[in-house]
Amino acid sequence: MQNIKDQQLIKHCSYINGSWHSSETNFTVTNPANGDVIAKVNNAGIAETEFAVTSAKSALKVWAAKSANERAALMRNWFNLMMQHQDDLARILTLEQGKPLAEAKGEISYGAAFIEWFAEEGKRVYGDTIPAPSSDKRIIVIKQAVGVVASITPWNFPNAMIARKAAAALAAGCTFVVRPAIQTPLSALAMAELAERAGIPKGVFNVVVGDNASGIGKVLTQHPDIAKFTFTGSTAVGQTLIAQCASTVKKVSMELGGNAPFIVFDDADIDAAVQGAIVSKYRNAGQTCVCTNRIFVQQGVLEQFTDKFVAAVAELSIGHGLIDGINIGPMISKAAVNKVNKLVADSVAAGAKIILGGKVHPAGENFYQPTVMTNVSNDMPIATNEIFGPVSPIISFTDEEHVLDMANDCEYGLASYFYSRDIGRIWRIAEALEYGMVGINDSIISNVAAPFGGIKQSGNGREGSKYGLDDYLEIKYLCMGGLDK
Ligand code: SIN
Repeated sequence: MQNIKDQQLIKHCSYINGSWHSSETNFTVTNPANGDVIAKVNNAGIAETEFAVTSAKSALKVWAAKSANERAALMRNWFNLMMQHQDDLARILTLEQGKPLAEAKGEISYGAAFIEWFAEEGKRVYGDTIPAPSSDKRIIVIKQAVGVVASITPWNFPNAMIARKAAAALAAGCTFVVRPAIQTPLSALAMAELAERAGIPKGVFNVVVGDNASGIGKVLTQHPDIAKFTFTGSTAVGQTLIAQCASTVKKVSMELGGNAPFIVFDDADIDAAVQGAIVSKYRNAGQTCVCTNRIFVQQGVLEQFTDKFVAAVAELSIGHGLIDGINIGPMISKAAVNKVNKLVADSVAAGAKIILGGKVHPAGENFYQPTVMTNVSNDMPIATNEIFGPVSPIISFTDEEHVLDMANDCEYGLASYFYSRDIGRIWRIAEALEYGMVGINDSIISNVAAPFGGIKQSGNGREGSKYGLDDYLEIKYLCMGGLDK
């Protein structure tokens, strides 16, 4: 933490109603690369969370009443400050989350881009006029801010998952309360410090950090002053949170788990497919919900793809994210490593083969070797579970029908990818994949202008894009009558 140039970015307590709230008890934040304690952070609990909600409620009227231009100007200040402090923010992120510094810098510009993009898109919240059924009436549709938005965000993108939600909420005129993951509170608090410097008014953006996940979660899902709840995380936790939102009928949007198929057809550009699979699988040590989970390769190119892919995976360098040239950092915890190790072992017991890796890496107990497995079938644990780690199971297939059956045979529907050069096949497969997002000859699908989100048990709602803004707006219908002479 000494290498952070602007030491004021390092905060140790919650940011509520424009002030920093200390408390008696602390929780520790550790560097997943080596277990070092990097910070002690004050624990906020139920009372502080309730205070954050009432503060957001008090701030709502004034913030929602501002013009989109006024909100955009403040958000642009926030964006500029995030980009000015990109190096410091990235370093904080790597220290608490583990991803390589270059990837962390990428996450800061990805997160900041949502703030810039939604600030501008907020100026385009258009309504509608609709021809009325009788001559004395007019039908007008306006869109208004949903209200107070509460959010719980994950450790895998400590900056961008907050930015993606908060930017849309603030641009729409909503106020915002976030509880970031307990493993990565420092990035969220640094964002709050910059929001304050940007002039975002008190109560508009609140960050509650605390280790009472269930108590804080209950306030954020059940408080009557919260109009919308949004979550990024696992499907199991999402199901509980949706149920908790039911008693006050909140609007919800959920970005949950995935089990992304990556399909390589025999007409694909194999080198491009190999590169695409590397990026999509090993980014963030495999810990994103859009990471490739199962690689399906058509039999005619199975050997060629596997050889090239294994050679490319073997080139990846593993280590502490602050070391230059590192491609893969630690996983978030020992428990995460153990889970991956067990999926690998159980699948080997069921007949899969490890071609590369398959063990904890000598760099430390939280590092897992980049791994490739063959002889995998779609019913093995490594294929049926969301791996969330740097392991690639390769499954062979014969034809389109065969691979579609396997790819769609899963409760998730977030991201999917395929490589083919046949235009007819491209349309058939794109339309048949039961996923919210399809990368076609491309595996870098996340960006501010595109609707990110899933179907089935991967969630609902969209983030990013004009569709993402709609999730923070209510439609109001105005019926104007008595207009005839
Ligand atoms: C996620 O893993 O939740 C988000 C990944 C992304 O935005 O690309």
